[in-house]
Amino acid sequence: MKLMKPLTTALLLGTVAVSITAQAADAKRGRVYYRMVCTVCHMEKLGGPISPNTKTKADWTAYLQTDKHAKGKDTVKHYFSKEYRASIKAKNQAAAKYAEVPDAELMEDVKAFVTGGAMDSDTPTSCD
Ligand code: HEC
Repeated sequence: MKLMKPLTTALLLGTVAVSITAQAADAKRGRVYYRMVCTVCHMEKLGGPISPNTKTKADWTAYLQTDKHAKGKDTVKHYFSKEYRASIKAKNQAAAKYAEVPDAELMEDVKAFVTGGAMDSDTPTSCD
């Protein structure tokens, strides 16, 4: 029984840590980044946006995990990287504003935005 207590405490703390991490994703910041960095280029290169509601939550999660952007020509991670933000920050306010955000954090924020607006979400979101 003496051993149970620390174990239970550890398990509880683990649960709290996981929920804090999950809440930490900032969908608002993700929306700003997605619209001002990702969408701006899609408008320019594809002639239109790629709206969150064009994919399901599972599609977006798989897409970000597979990390093959533009049919595998480059990676999605590249467009979340500090390096990429630095390269465009002179002419892109979102890249400048979020210049120092860790790459993985920014990706979680965008993931929260696109899955939150996915076609099977409660709030399907279009970019136009
Ligand atoms: C510098 C331009 C540029 C930026 C920045 C950019 N994309 Fe793209 N993206 C493209 C192009 C071009 C395509 C289409 C490629 C094709 O169809 O061959 C594309 C396609 C996509 C697609 C469709 C599937 C695929 O990969 O072909 C998704 C989803 C996507 N981008 C997500 C993102 C996300 C998320 C970001 C931001 C983190 C982002 N893109 C940033 C240029 C860009």
